[in-house]
Amino acid sequence: MRPVVVVHGGAWAIPDELSRASVDGVKAAARAGYAVLEKGASALDAVEAATRSLEDNPAFDAGHGAVQNTEGEVELDAIIMDGSTLASGAVSSVRNIANPITLARAVMEQTDHAMLTDRGANLFAEKMGIPTVPTEALVTEIERKEWERQKSYSIGVKEMFNNQWAHDTVGAVALDCHGNVACATSTGGIRHKMVGRVGDSPIIGSGAYADNQSGAVSCTGHGESILKVTLARLILFHVEQGRGISEAVEKSLQHMGERVHGGGGAIAVGPSGQWAAKFTTERMPWACMDGEALHYGMEPKEENQEAP
Ligand code: GLY
Repeated sequence: MRPVVVVHGGAWAIPDELSRASVDGVKAAARAGYAVLEKGASALDAVEAATRSLEDNPAFDAGHGAVQNTEGEVELDAIIMDGSTLASGAVSSVRNIANPITLARAVMEQTDHAMLTDRGANLFAEKMGIPTVPTEALVTEIERKEWERQKSYSIGVKEMFNNQWAHDTVGAVALDCHGNVACATSTGGIRHKMVGRVGDSPIIGSGAYADNQSGAVSCTGHGESILKVTLARLILFHVEQGRGISEAVEKSLQHMGERVHGGGGAIAVGPSGQWAAKFTTERMPWACMDGEALHYGMEPKEENQEAP
């Protein structure tokens, strides 16, 4: 089986000054995921490695670079899922953790639960020996300025998102040489969210889903809209109904736009290596290693589509 990894750096109106860093970042993350797959390791290992690379990159809204809530705090959400067993692990509203995706994997593998939140997630991180980082180390200068700017605005977060004033989420999906798929999604959420707000990203079936029988998906976009249509499962439902991966992603994003006026994007890979990266926002940086071949893009006209 030819291994495939696809990553995204969030669907939003990326300003020109961040565009180069965003594309370079997704390319590096796809290569990091592929380096793992090349050694014969699992899709799960690959999506964790790719997502850690995106979390460590301050161009993206996850880990370092995450957005702040109304009180200037950083609350992080993440999920990882293994398509071979349907096991998943997630954390929500966790603080001061640089790589929430690794903590989510520990929830999956080291507890009897599927999600830990807030203080419980931080207590578990401590128990696992995962180090903390100060909030100031996670917040970039760009986000600090955005937070100051947004204090004076009175529109809601959905309007902000749809007015293309957002910053959003990273994710990865992979197919390994054994035919197993996996997905991972990690985020700081939406700028100026309420304290304690949890979006789609750590919610199974909304921010991500993986099942060897249909494929793996990671979503990005306005969380409350994604939750309403359970976007990741909706995409795989369309695959189960016989649609190609690309058409399934496109149809589901179109439904979310028409039904709840939400913008976003998704990446997906199927069990035989078909993959797609699509979005309805202005931009979404994505990259794919399909075997040795690197594909990438950020503009609508560069959207990929489906590998043969
Ligand atoms: N899509 C990320 C969020 O809404 O939190």
